[in-house]
Amino acid sequence: MQIERLTPARFAAHRDALANLLIDAVEGGASVGFVLPINRETALAWVDGLAASVADGSRIIWLAFKAGQAIGTVQLELATKQNGRNRAEVQKLLVLRSARRLGVARALMAALEESAPPLQRGLLYLDTEAGSPAEDFYRSLGWQYAGGLPDYACSPDGVWAANAIYYKTLFRRNPA
Ligand SMILES: CC(C)(COP(=O)(O)OP(=O)(O)OC[C@H]1O[C@@H](n2cnc3c(N)ncnc32)[C@H](O)[C@@H]1OP(=O)(O)O)[C@@H](O)C(=O)NCCC(=O)NCCS
Repeated sequence: MQIERLTPARFAAHRDALANLLIDAVEGGASVGFVLPINRETALAWVDGLAASVADGSRIIWLAFKAGQAIGTVQLELATKQNGRNRAEVQKLLVLRSARRLGVARALMAALEESAPPLQRGLLYLDTEAGSPAEDFYRSLGWQYAGGLPDYACSPDGVWAANAIYYKTLFRRNPA
């Protein structure tokens, strides 16, 4: 497996791969911002909406490849507010259903977590659907549960569910 951190120049070349990963996850029931049915046009519009933030460096995208096929992805969105430059949000960790439980997400998160300190980001955070397998995944990597909000998002098949917010401190700004 190879992990590639997409440069802005490489982003366009992987437009279809990113759309495929989104469609596969949503069709598999993952609550990642979209509901069923999801079509290619919607997925490609989502990818195109990322282009500006990839170009200005506030979003970093990784892809995992096996035998030339993109099998997983994750994003890190760097807070750009003047007072928020210690934090970054993990988004859209997606692994093809056919490639799960092989360590792909673990490898993507390792690349992401390694990239954060050089970018001066000591706090990573994310939210996911409460009770989803993703919670087990993040806990297995040592992420801390911070709480959740009721009826936060609608699952692909139309059920409202709470979210679960997780964070990981990579370094402290004000050490005791
Ligand atoms: C959550 C997700 C990213 C995990 O990807 P993955 O590549 O299968 O995960 P890994 O193989 O790296 O798993 C690493 C560890 O996480 C835990 N884990 C992963 N999936 C799990 C599951 N379905 N149930 C319980 N634990 C799980 C296990 O401890 C696993 O180690 P093990 O396989 O040795 O037991 C994948 O299931 C997915 O894409 N889900 C749909 C999208 C989604 O919910 N994304 C998160 C949104 S924030």
